[in-house]
Amino acid sequence: LFSAVEMAPRDPILGLTETFNADTRQYKVNLGVGVYYNEEGKIPLLRAVAEAEKARLETQGPRGYLPIEGVLTYDLAVQKMLFGQDSPLLDDGRVVTTQSLGGTGALKVGADFLKRLLPNSVVAISDPSWENHRALFESAGFPVKTYRYYNPQTYDVDRAGLLEDLQQLPPRSIIVLHACCHNPTGLDLNAEDWHQIIEVIKTCGHVPFVDIAYQGFGEGIEEDALAVRLFAQSGLSFLVSSSFSKSFSLYGERVGALTLVTQNADEAQRVRSQIKRVIRTNYSNPPTHGATVVANILKSPELRVLWEEELTSMRSRIQSMRLALVQALASRGAKQDFSFIARQRGMFSYSGLTAQQVERLRVEFGVYAISTGRICAAALNHKNLDYVADSIVKVL
Ligand code: LMR
Repeated sequence: LFSAVEMAPRDPILGLTETFNADTRQYKVNLGVGVYYNEEGKIPLLRAVAEAEKARLETQGPRGYLPIEGVLTYDLAVQKMLFGQDSPLLDDGRVVTTQSLGGTGALKVGADFLKRLLPNSVVAISDPSWENHRALFESAGFPVKTYRYYNPQTYDVDRAGLLEDLQQLPPRSIIVLHACCHNPTGLDLNAEDWHQIIEVIKTCGHVPFVDIAYQGFGEGIEEDALAVRLFAQSGLSFLVSSSFSKSFSLYGERVGALTLVTQNADEAQRVRSQIKRVIRTNYSNPPTHGATVVANILKSPELRVLWEEELTSMRSRIQSMRLALVQALASRGAKQDFSFIARQRGMFSYSGLTAQQVERLRVEFGVYAISTGRICAAALNHKNLDYVADSIVKVL
């Protein structure tokens, strides 16, 4: 049966972690996967999470099945984070949210649903984008194209190229957009850019699918929801995939959500019923723990304040490590100017390192980065910074 099965390539991100874990060198640094590590190089257990978990454990609740759409208080809390406390969309019953297995799960359920709805559409992702975007939409059966996003000459967004490419896609294309903390470039769009993108999307009849996996890591929870809120005001129907892996440091709990904004409450009911079918035939219903913890934090005034403080300190620490890396490279006489790293936001930095340089970093120094040159600034700390900077300067 399996004799003809070919070896699949390793996943470009999680496969790198496998190689890192198997690396027996005493000194090694994983700047590959997008995970926040604290100053001690550990994945933190947030205090807000620990307190919510303690309270949850004490209630000793039964372990029944969740509804197909997950923890209902969680779904509502997600909507408020996306659209704001008093969004008219919520009062009008136009929004459908279902808990998902991380942001990836939301993208996959959304993609499977869209494939049934728009079987002949094309999907467009940014160039570059998160490695898994292409794979996910291709596995749902879509052809995947790219729109220009990054200009390596200016270390900035290629705004004109982006708009031009969106205009040239076939009508009704599905456009995957990063709401904030663009993965992998760390370069975000401003309000004016979003207005222009929304206009093009409206004119061409495209379908926006907004991926928000780093809310709170750019400028703040409200600020980072700008794109979602502008789409909400636009009157368009659209999809949003949320992830709380990073913002609650709950990676392995797979806490995500798929949200669909429809035109009216009746449409929302029909869409909900179809999404439930997709979920039921994939994994039946989601797990309880992570989403309950997140919902309990978001609805408790004290825990919410504590969580927001912790999120702010993660964001500030990443920003300070960006500045420290820029300084460390400059003080070592790096031939290139790396000051652009300090202007990028979120966990990632598109360092400009080539695939060969990344390979040398791994082989010679045990410093792991994605072959595109993406490094995770959230994995830097004051203990590994000098070593990383020394290693980078040596491979330049
Ligand atoms: C990343 O981009 O490294 C993260 O989103 C983790 C993943 O699943 O790829």
